[in-house]
Amino acid sequence: MLSLIDVTAGYGDSTVLRDVTLHVPDHSVVALLGANGAGKTTLLRVASGLLRPSSGQIMMDDIDVTRLRPHELGQLGLCHVPEGRGVFRKLTVRENLQLFSSQLGRADGLERVAQAFPRLAARLNQVAGTMSGGEQQMLALARAYLTQPRVVLLDEVSMGLAPKLVDEIFAFLIRLSRDGCAMLLVEQFATKALAIADYACLLVQGRLADVGEPVDIAASDLAASYLGEALAAG
Ligand SMILES: Nc1ncnc2c1ncn2[C@@H]1O[C@H](COP(=O)(O)OP(=O)(O)OP(=O)(O)O)[C@@H](O)[C@H]1O
Ligand SMILES: [Mg+2]
Repeated sequence: MLSLIDVTAGYGDSTVLRDVTLHVPDHSVVALLGANGAGKTTLLRVASGLLRPSSGQIMMDDIDVTRLRPHELGQLGLCHVPEGRGVFRKLTVRENLQLFSSQLGRADGLERVAQAFPRLAARLNQVAGTMSGGEQQMLALARAYLTQPRVVLLDEVSMGLAPKLVDEIFAFLIRLSRDGCAMLLVEQFATKALAIADYACLLVQGRLADVGEPVDIAASDLAASYLGEALAAG
């Protein structure tokens, strides 16, 4: 459903991604792996319309969306959960969720979130900026959940979180995937990402070095040489 075709992109004069072709099929989870600085965040930014590629195409289904803006891609069912947190820090959890729900014209947003994230349900009146990092990350994910996206781009959503929260977040990702949402998942815990992925891609210095079944990528020497610690840590 989401494809990058021969994408080259970068910042100013520096090229980061070179001729990257990558497909995220309907209902599938694709893990995007690579060392620090390989270009994973850049790839997600290109896919979500935040960064224009210098050449190549972005397709959603059969539509060329290369020149669309992020909100237009959102209307087509794409949701980007960026590195860091996309929440309104001064509003309460309830207000954050109401804002997302009303944008979507849905009245049942709070109930849906309460079911998926009991931890947030217990904090509806708390100002978002005073929640722990992990709780704020959950609120950002709850937003993705409410928009009922067809494909979600997730950039290190478990970054810096305690193991218990990481597990909760992965449980949620599995649930989102079971609901039929496709995912492109960038994750520091490579092993955890591979465990829920249908396909895996390895980015090495901005080029797609390997694509395949998660078990094959996990066992490859190439992945081990770039992701040694991340594979061991999962
Ligand atoms: N706004 C920017 N301006 C200039 N260069 C940038 C910018 N953002 C990223 N880069 C450079 O692009 C390259 C790829 O960065 P990117 O953030 O995509 O890597 P990454 O794979 O997400 O790394 P990490 O695992 O550390 O998050 C890096 O060399 C980085 O310094
Ligand atoms: Mg990154």
